Amino acid sequence: MAFSLTSFFFFFISVPAFFLLAAAKHHRHHWVGHTGHRLIKVDVKGISGEFVSVQAAVDAVPDYNTVNTLIRISPGYYVEKVVVPAKKPYITFEGGGKETTVIEWHDRAGDRGPSGQQLRTYRTASVTVFANYFSARNISFKNTAPAPMPGMQGWQAAAFRISGDKAYFSGCGFYGAQDTLCDDAGRHYFKECYIEGSIDFIFGNGRSMYKDCELHSIATRFGSIAAQDRNSPNEKTGFAFVRCKVTGSGPIYVGRAMGQYSRIVYAYTYFDDVVAHGGWDDWDHTSNKNQTVFFGVYKCWGPGASKVKGVSWARELEFEEAHPFLVKSFVNGRHWIAPSDA
Ligand SMILES: *[C@@H]1O[C@H](CO)[C@@H](O)[C@H](O)[C@H]1NC(C)=O
Ligand SMILES: *[C@@H]1O[C@H](CO)[C@@H](O)[C@H](O)[C@H]1NC(C)=O
Repeated sequence: MAFSLTSFFFFFISVPAFFLLAAAKHHRHHWVGHTGHRLIKVDVKGISGEFVSVQAAVDAVPDYNTVNTLIRISPGYYVEKVVVPAKKPYITFEGGGKETTVIEWHDRAGDRGPSGQQLRTYRTASVTVFANYFSARNISFKNTAPAPMPGMQGWQAAAFRISGDKAYFSGCGFYGAQDTLCDDAGRHYFKECYIEGSIDFIFGNGRSMYKDCELHSIATRFGSIAAQDRNSPNEKTGFAFVRCKVTGSGPIYVGRAMGQYSRIVYAYTYFDDVVAHGGWDDWDHTSNKNQTVFFGVYKCWGPGASKVKGVSWARELEFEEAHPFLVKSFVNGRHWIAPSDA
């Protein structure tokens, strides 16, 4: 599950990083791309766009792009698999609304890729972003593979994978079942998004804040929301859910210890009556992860909220402990998220 493209993508960030340093001399707060703007229009109906596919629009962005590039995607269903490579930073996908503009595909982990190898979870995503400074607004991403029953093998099917740093999402929808949103690596901010799934439907080793999002379970028999993969006490990664809303079907665990030092905090979050007994899961019951994880809640509410404190190793935090997970500095947001966007 945990192979990584880290070295691959660190090679490429050096180029945009150079421009950022140069720009920072003149602008103390530098939230977005280097200079200028470009608009590319996509329309699946072929009426108002330069392209009918989102990938074709991404392909039209030059390598080592330094221009804020808005890809405006007209309402419709874009049935395609899309990749934004690491050497194309500063791209925004903007749809006409998350109900009307959808990019979808249907790969599962057990399916075969072009080389005959099984895809495995991380390569199933309908949309994959390796680039830094990606953002998306008012658009949905789906994996339309059918939902597995618990315990079925090879049915992981991601809708979206974010492996780039400093990614911002607002008003987006993420739809799938097992492993919907691969929050793989880097700092990410999700605002007013809708995320739906059944098992570990937000997972990976990202350092992410989810603010005012709805986390909607479609689990049958059992399920789980977040599986965070922090593997060392020195990593700054973790998932902070602030003022979110947990809805849908259950019973579900709210967090699972994918990594030995997994970190997950829910603050000011509403829980419907869908939380499983105990609330949290230690993943394998054998590696004493219940002694090394950091799982906590702060001022949560709703009919399921008391069950989120169902084990001794996930507790109600004091304000001082909770505070780092409540503010956008958790993702160093002051340096890359405009105040009006937080
Ligand atoms: C996104 O949708 C919201 C709600 O429909 C709307 O207020 C906002 O202006 C939209 N933003 C963009 C960039 O289209
Ligand atoms: C912690 O997990 C271990 C197995 O990894 C288990 O034996 C122990 O009972 C658990 N402790 C608590 C407090 O849940």
